[in-house]
Amino acid sequence: GFSWKLNDHPKLPKGKIIAVVVLDGWGEAHANQYNCIHVAETPVMDSLKNGAPEKWRLVKAHGKAVGLPTDDDMGNSEVGHNALGAGRIYAQGAKLVDFALASGKIYDGEGFKYIKESFETGTLHLIGLLSDGGVHSRLDQLQLLLKGASERGAKRIRVHALTDGRDVLDGTSIGFMETLENDLAKLREKGIDAQIASGGGRMYVTMDRYENDWDVVKRGWDAQVLGEAPHKFTSAVEAINKLRQEPNTNDQYLPPFVIVDESGKPVGPIVDGDAVVTINFRADRMVMLAKALEYEDFDKFDRVRFPKIRYAGMLQYDGELKLPSHYLVSPPEIERTSGEYLVHNGVRTFACSETVKFGHVTFFWNGNRSGYFDQSMEEYVEIPSDSGITFNVKPKMKALEIAEKVRDTILSRKFHQVRVNLPNGDMVGHTGDIEATVVACKAADDAVKMILDAIEQVGGIFVVTADHGNAEDMVKRNKKGEPLLDKNGNIQILTSHTLEPVPIAIGGPGLAPGVKFRQDLPGGGLANVAATVMNLHGYEAPSDYEPTLIEVVDN
Ligand code: 3PG
Ligand code: CO
Repeated sequence: GFSWKLNDHPKLPKGKIIAVVVLDGWGEAHANQYNCIHVAETPVMDSLKNGAPEKWRLVKAHGKAVGLPTDDDMGNSEVGHNALGAGRIYAQGAKLVDFALASGKIYDGEGFKYIKESFETGTLHLIGLLSDGGVHSRLDQLQLLLKGASERGAKRIRVHALTDGRDVLDGTSIGFMETLENDLAKLREKGIDAQIASGGGRMYVTMDRYENDWDVVKRGWDAQVLGEAPHKFTSAVEAINKLRQEPNTNDQYLPPFVIVDESGKPVGPIVDGDAVVTINFRADRMVMLAKALEYEDFDKFDRVRFPKIRYAGMLQYDGELKLPSHYLVSPPEIERTSGEYLVHNGVRTFACSETVKFGHVTFFWNGNRSGYFDQSMEEYVEIPSDSGITFNVKPKMKALEIAEKVRDTILSRKFHQVRVNLPNGDMVGHTGDIEATVVACKAADDAVKMILDAIEQVGGIFVVTADHGNAEDMVKRNKKGEPLLDKNGNIQILTSHTLEPVPIAIGGPGLAPGVKFRQDLPGGGLANVAATVMNLHGYEAPSDYEPTLIEVVDN
C-alpha cells in the first residue's frame, strides 16, 4: 500500500540545513543593456555562475516543461512553484480549460449546470483578466465561453473586464477591449443582451493577492456588484482611451469605471438571482474576490449588498478551503508534494517571503493548498509588503528583512529546510522601469549573500534557483531577437515574464564531496528540482517524480 516513508539515499546524509532560495523573475539571457541582471552588480549570483561548472546549470521554466499548453507560453510563478514543489509536471489550468472548452465537457460539468439555473431569469456575469497573456486567463477562452453560454440559454450577459499590461505589453488593453466589444455586438445581433458592464486595471481593481490590500478588491466589488465607480462611460473602449490619458496611469493601474446607459444608470450591477463566473484559471489573484462572492460571513470590507447569486470559478482556486465550491473545470490534482513528504519524514521546514510572494513558497509550492501539513513541523513567516505603491518606487522591497529573517532562522538550527522567495526581479520587472529593476536585482543578490553566509556558518547546503524569467529582458523583441520600436522610435518595454531558462546552483560546506549535476539531463526543468532537494536531505525521491539533477561520484 501507499506509504509516506521515503527511502534513504544510498550516499547522502540526513540532517543538513538546506536553504532553498527562489529568485522570482530571474532568467538567463544575453548580456545587454536591457538585461537588468547583467547591468546590476550581482557578485554573488555571478560567482555561482562562474564557479564550479558542475554546480551551476540552467533549467527550463516555461512552456511544456511546466505544464503549459505550448512552448510559446512564458513561465509564471504559479506553474513554476507548483513544479518546484511537486516534482512532477501537471497539465496546468490554462491547458485544462483549453481541453474542457474544446471537448465541450465544460458544459456537462456540475459547475456549468449550476450557473445555468440562473440563465432563465438572471444575468450571467463574467469577471476576469482581459488579455492573451495566458498567465491568469486567456481572451480566446472567454470568447469560447461567451459563445457556449449564449448557445446554452444565457440571454443576458455582462462582462466585467480587468485590463492587463503586465503579462502583455502596456497599451494593448484597448485592442482586447475592441475584440470583446465586437464579439458582444455579434451576440446582440443574435438577440442576446450582451454588454461590458465595468472595468479597471488589474493591479488597482480586484486582482490583489495574498490579502495585501483589500481595498483593491473593494474597488472592484463596488463597480462590479454595486455598479458604483468614480468614472462612468457609455463605452468601455472610450473609457480606456480617456482614462489612459490621466497622469500616472497605464493598463495595469486604470481606475475603476462602470458602463452606464443613456439615462446614466449602470448597465450591469450584480443582483439576486444572477450567475457569476470568475474566468481566471489562476488562483492567487482571484481567491480574494471568490471569498467576497461566496462567504456569508465576511469582514474584509463592507459589501453593502451581498447578492444571492450562483457563483462558479473557472477552476477551484483553493483545494484546502474548497473555494469556490462550484467551478467549471477541475484543477490539476497536485498531490504528494515534496513538502508533504518531507514533513512525514521528519524534515522540519520553514518558508518565508513578503506578502506579495508569500503564497508562492507556501500555497503554490504545496500544490495550491493553503495552510500547514503539520504545524508542529513547519513554520511559514510572512514579511508584510508595502501596499498601495508600485514597486519601482521601492525596488529593494523587503529583501533585507526577508534575508535577515531567513539568516536568523538558519542560525537557530531549528529547521532542516529553509525556503525563501525573493520577489524583486519579478515585481519590479513588471513595472517596466529598467533603472529600478537594476536596483531590484542588486537587492536580491545582497539577500542571497546574507543567506549563503548563514549557510556557511552552520555547515549547510544551498540550492539557489528561480521560477521564471523577467528582469533579464526588459524589451519586446522580434523573431530575430532585435528590440522592437514603437511608432515614436522608443523601445517597447517588456513588462511580462519571458521564455528564458533559469539558473540553479548548489553548494555550501555541507554539500557532500562528489555531488554534481548530471550530464544526462540537458532538458531538465523546474520539476527536476524537488527530487534534487530530497536527495540533499538524504532521501530518494518517490519513483514517479521527475529525476534528480544530481549524482554523487566517488572521489
Ligand atoms: C502577476 O500576477 O503579478 C503576474 O501576472 C504574474 O507574475 P507571477 O507569476 O510572477 O506572480
Ligand atoms: Co511575475
